[in-house]
Amino acid sequence: MKRLLRRAPVTHGVNTERRQSTALHFYQNRQLELYASKQTKRLTLRQLVFFGRSMNEERLIQSGNYVRTELPVRIAHRIRDLQALPYVVVTQEGVARVYELYWSAFEKFRRYPEIKTLSDNEAFCAFLRDILEEHAAVIPSLSLGLSLSSPYLPPDQLDSFMRRMLVSRISRRVLAEHHIALSEHFARRDSRSGDVGIIDTGLNISESVNKCVKFLRDRRFDLEEDGVDMPDQDKEWPEVVVEGHLNAKFSYIREHLEYIVFELLKNSMRATGLKHLDKSTLPPIHATIAASTDEIGIRISDQGMSSTSGRVIKASPQDLFSFSHTRNAARLETSRIGALRTVSSSKQGMKATVDEQLQWWKRRRRDSAPSFDVDARSDDIETEAGVAPHPRIGIGLPMSNIFARYFGGSLELISLDGWGTDAYIRLPKLGTNLEGIEL
Ligand code: COI
Repeated sequence: MKRLLRRAPVTHGVNTERRQSTALHFYQNRQLELYASKQTKRLTLRQLVFFGRSMNEERLIQSGNYVRTELPVRIAHRIRDLQALPYVVVTQEGVARVYELYWSAFEKFRRYPEIKTLSDNEAFCAFLRDILEEHAAVIPSLSLGLSLSSPYLPPDQLDSFMRRMLVSRISRRVLAEHHIALSEHFARRDSRSGDVGIIDTGLNISESVNKCVKFLRDRRFDLEEDGVDMPDQDKEWPEVVVEGHLNAKFSYIREHLEYIVFELLKNSMRATGLKHLDKSTLPPIHATIAASTDEIGIRISDQGMSSTSGRVIKASPQDLFSFSHTRNAARLETSRIGALRTVSSSKQGMKATVDEQLQWWKRRRRDSAPSFDVDARSDDIETEAGVAPHPRIGIGLPMSNIFARYFGGSLELISLDGWGTDAYIRLPKLGTNLEGIEL
């Protein structure tokens, strides 16, 4: 530790006060050690469904107390991770902000009294909602901080750190949001819906895919961000042929599935648009759904540039998941850092789910002039309504990968040079895998 503090920190716009309080925390670690020495109690999707299916007062309170005691353990592990980073990294803009947020959340959870009654639980849900809101910008903040730190960390270390941070964050939000949803359903005595907490027990995959397709194709065709002039105002984004097992359903967190599908389709559309600039009609994208006994597979095939980001990249497509600039040079691009700065310093962070994005656009459409163009541009991300849901900050693919792996699935990208890219999403159908968090 002393060694770290003695090193002259290279910082990018970190304020001194924040740096001092960050350093102070290094000495306030007793409670943290206590929590970080505990094992996390990981769950499977199936356990979440079974437990939540027949809710009563006692079980709801039990669920609340599980979240209350489990979250500080998960946060403590990640604070320890942050403390193991070189000082030059933990003091970077973005990382320092997340470190402070986590400390504050850790202290609040640790001190939160036991939940004994339904009204205690209501108060606990309000507390959770506030923290979820407070942490809205954690991902862009981390992404900003780690991009700026990329020159100081070996790529393997950087990527495994980010993976642990992001998976753990997803897991904490899942537990918090699931408990809030269970509590809301219980309060409404809502036993008819197919939802158990945030899990849709009859999630219709083709409906989700079609929803993403519609949202994406409703935008005006525009590749100006990629430096392309857009004289052809009538051109449309490529059609998406949805095929395969169109009636397949499974139990899953709809927001996670839609996040992944949306990001992959968006990338495929851009890549196709860029490759076929000279054509008035673009070759279709194929989204194929395959349901086997224990797995749901979705393949998204495009005939775009052979990289899912729409750029010609020599590195392997998997490097697009990386947060290290040595694997993915775009991480240090000025426009990306600028967009990350804007999003991470906004109170609202990003609109993470496809539904949130849709609502955002609808609100903005309603509030804006009739000529409103439904596409977000990086120079257009700060608006009166907040921050656009999808500025190009480069986290869609790594996050999709992490969402896919959270309950034991996978995401693989295979490019055929000169032809296009196939993205394979595989998600376990039985829900028996434990959350993929480390510790
Ligand atoms: C996060 O969003 O980063 C969280 O940790 C949220 C959780 C404390 C409810």
